[in-house]
Amino acid sequence: MLVREFEFKMKDGRTASVRSPREDDAAGLLDYLYVTACETEFLMRYPEECGKYTIEGELRFIKNANSSDREAAALCLVEGEIVGLANVSWSGAIKTKHRASVAIALIREFWDQGIGTVLMEELIRIAEENEDLIQIELDFIEGNVRARALYEKLGFRIVGVKPNAIRLKDGTLLNEYSMIKEIKR
Ligand SMILES: CC(C)(COP(=O)(O)OP(=O)(O)OC[C@H]1O[C@@H](n2cnc3c(N)ncnc32)[C@H](O)[C@@H]1OP(=O)(O)O)[C@@H](O)C(=O)NCCC(=O)NCCS
Repeated sequence: MLVREFEFKMKDGRTASVRSPREDDAAGLLDYLYVTACETEFLMRYPEECGKYTIEGELRFIKNANSSDREAAALCLVEGEIVGLANVSWSGAIKTKHRASVAIALIREFWDQGIGTVLMEELIRIAEENEDLIQIELDFIEGNVRARALYEKLGFRIVGVKPNAIRLKDGTLLNEYSMIKEIKR
């Protein structure tokens, strides 16, 4: 589904805008996927694994996110550049259609500007509007204190840990934590 279009002020006073991705964002999204993979180990992809992403794949992602009634993507732009993307989706399966998943990543230069809070609040609002949903779920990698702080601020709580879920290239093993935010009905 399409997300609401709006602008907000980042902590540094600049204006950021939020909207659904469009077809002409496909190339920008490929850059974003690569840059974010280079900038943090708290995402599931290494930069060299970004070759699997293609313009056609991004066009499919954009079309699906915008046209599906069980998915939405919110792009954040500053001065015309993509600085972040967050998405929410849920299954149509009878046994699991009460559970939504969210994911988010921003370009590092734009961390700590309040963008994560704004994008996540928008996705939570979308999930709350869907009456089937009773919980929003996400995972974060051990050590991602910024993500954890953001999620806890928004009402998510840790419900489980998968030991050694992540192995970095240097062999470091990290746990993955699962969080849930319940939607009051
Ligand atoms: C995690 C991420 C989405 C957060 O977005 P963001 O725009 O930086 O977050 P916000 O600025 O809205 O909020 C971050 C909060 O964490 C707090 N914070 C920042 N660093 C912190 C730290 N070291 N310890 C505790 N809290 C911290 C900030 O104070 C802020 O809280 P506040 O708004 O109450 O002041 C973003 O940093 C990012 O994309 N990181 C890389 C990719 C990633 O980790 N994605 C999530 C995977 S689960």
